[in-house]
Amino acid sequence: MFSISRELKTLLSGSPAVRVVVLTGAGISAESGVPTFRGTDGLWSKFKPEELANVDAFMSNPDLVWSWYQHRREIINKVQPNEGHTSLARMEEKLADFTLITQNVDGLHRRAGSRNVLELHGNILYNKCIKCSKMYQTLPDEEAKSAPVCECGGRIRPDVVWFGEMLPQQILQSAFRAAENAAVFFSIGTSALVHPAASLPVIAKQRGAYLVEINVETTVLTDYADEFLEGPSGEVLPSLMKECGLA
Ligand code: APR
Repeated sequence: MFSISRELKTLLSGSPAVRVVVLTGAGISAESGVPTFRGTDGLWSKFKPEELANVDAFMSNPDLVWSWYQHRREIINKVQPNEGHTSLARMEEKLADFTLITQNVDGLHRRAGSRNVLELHGNILYNKCIKCSKMYQTLPDEEAKSAPVCECGGRIRPDVVWFGEMLPQQILQSAFRAAENAAVFFSIGTSALVHPAASLPVIAKQRGAYLVEINVETTVLTDYADEFLEGPSGEVLPSLMKECGLA
């Protein structure tokens, strides 16, 4: 289990102006029932990312890729944010300088009440035309199993970042700026393997931040972190909030 250090409690309860930055990954949504990517029962253990989560796969087999995202949407539409998500929404309310960066595309942070969310990899609930870039928040046919077609004739795809694609530049710049100025940086529920997101905690620590990792197991980041809180984020975060007077 985990015990929160006096140093972290002092940092978080010492001043409401403390600059806190959080990076989340699929692990924070695991307790809501959303599969992670690299865990034992993760999405990548069943599918190959190169066959699904990239533009070549979509262009060669749009219906397969579209149906996979529809399957993921069906899961997401049935689940609720968990106490990890709601704790971070509360932290945003209580702290004057708080930034939430997520790799997740499930939209659960916003549903939990977080307002300022930097979605590095897009949002699976939105779609866009690959030809004219028209955005589609709702689809001509929500149940469509095959990739719908835009009025311009182009295919409609999920508005998420696929392997090999550029991240939304403004969002990425804001994330780097936040990491460079953080006093406390949390890496929560991420294997810390996929760049550029994985460089954010490293940059934060190099610039003087106190680096905290919350995960159910160690990762490539653990030895580098100042503090490792081992446990499910849906349990660790509520305890952290209580012990630091943020609940
Ligand atoms: N609480 C905290 N951490 C958890 C929990 C939990 N309840 N359950 C699982 N984890 C941890 C796992 O131990 C793992 O370290 O969450 C992490 C999930 O790692 P990944 O499945 O690799 O997901 P993520 O780090 O978000 O992947 C990054 O890779 O495939 C791309 O675009 C995709 O955004 C994704 C990116």
